[in-house]
Amino acid sequence: MSKGNNDFFKVKKDWSEIKDRLLAYYLPQYFQKVLMTNKPIFYVDCFAGMGKFDDGKDGSPRIALQIRDSSICHSRAQSPLINTCFIDLNYGNELKANTAEFNNQNGIPLVIQGRYEEEIEKLLSDKRGQNVFLYIDPYGIRALNYTLFSKFADYGFSSIEMLINMNSFGFMRAACRAMKVDYVINESLDDLVEYDPTQVDASVQSINLLNSIAGGDFWQTIVMDYTANKIDGYEAEKRFSNGYKQQLRKKYTYVLDMPICIKSRQHPKYRMIHISNHEDGCILMADNMFSRSEELFVEVQNQGQLSLFSFDVQNNTIDENDIRQKMLDFLATVPNGMTADKLIAAFFTEYGVVCKSGVLRDIWKEFEKNGTIEVIRIPATTPTGLPSAFFTEDRKKKQSVTIRRLRI
Ligand SMILES: C[S@@+](CC[C@H](N)C(=O)[O-])C[C@H]1O[C@@H](n2cnc3c(N)ncnc32)[C@H](O)[C@@H]1O
Repeated sequence: MSKGNNDFFKVKKDWSEIKDRLLAYYLPQYFQKVLMTNKPIFYVDCFAGMGKFDDGKDGSPRIALQIRDSSICHSRAQSPLINTCFIDLNYGNELKANTAEFNNQNGIPLVIQGRYEEEIEKLLSDKRGQNVFLYIDPYGIRALNYTLFSKFADYGFSSIEMLINMNSFGFMRAACRAMKVDYVINESLDDLVEYDPTQVDASVQSINLLNSIAGGDFWQTIVMDYTANKIDGYEAEKRFSNGYKQQLRKKYTYVLDMPICIKSRQHPKYRMIHISNHEDGCILMADNMFSRSEELFVEVQNQGQLSLFSFDVQNNTIDENDIRQKMLDFLATVPNGMTADKLIAAFFTEYGVVCKSGVLRDIWKEFEKNGTIEVIRIPATTPTGLPSAFFTEDRKKKQSVTIRRLRI
């Protein structure tokens, strides 16, 4: 069944394309915005691969380096600096060769052949005050140590963001094996998990390994509920993903997740998780996730599964009334109100990426009209003395918006 890892880089597969697309659309916006802090960016591709696939397509390192160069070229920052580092256990030489053309005035990519989990702390130890971005795209789950993710939050970076490929089905499969249960779902996941070398058996070591990945033992209750037929395999995966996000939220303010559904609309194959402490990054990524999932939807439709409905990132049919109600519920939890961007990012973290950020602003517009919310704007009036009507914040223009629910 297992083909091993050697053919991973022969042809770039659909799921690699989707991951890289999510990264490729996000990085230009991220670099532009964060460079304006005038603090260096340290970008690390922690499981970088070869840099290039044998079919000539670029892998994540070359994609990021192209964006580094164009972002620095177009930046209005005083001295834009993006340091890059690429770690891979197996492909140091290939990585060096495939990134060599990016040794230029924008920097020399650092290539490390080694294990992310052994290298990363050393690499980050002198990056205090910098902006750190980690792209974490392993084959499987073994190297996803929660304690490391949790530690990064305390390093004193100016900012930190992570984009993680979490093979949540792979986790559930391993979790069931560790607890001597068969994990049965109607779809083959072999095309994804064949690259996961994690051998898990029913031993204490395996249980400990899974605890260290999940950041706790909450997954064991999920396996027990699955064994007792209280939930099916898909529901188990969903519950695990939610539990995992809850763990991450103990250390990071904003956590988003995009299930990646290839071929079938119904069930994800894995999840891309974005972690940040800044609302701007969270909103940019949420809008990016929504756009990418719309593209994916069109691609799946083209494979013959037509649908009249629109869907959110989690594959739920979009119901604007439901989004309105969620917004009202959320506002009820913050009686003193919240500034607009923080509110959007917190809303997406709480309910998932149910729409684009623009839809939430449109909902506020309605709420303001019918007196459901109070909107406090700074400045309160336009230069010509009219009441301000904006819902977008702009730090440079010193423009802020606070939303507070009335009539709770
Ligand atoms: C899914 S591939 C990465 C693909 C890459 N993101 C791209 O777009 O081309 C995972 C990579 O992780 C490497 N790897 C496996 N275990 C690792 C570890 N512990 N630390 C760093 N790299 C590792 C493998 O050699 C493989 O190249």
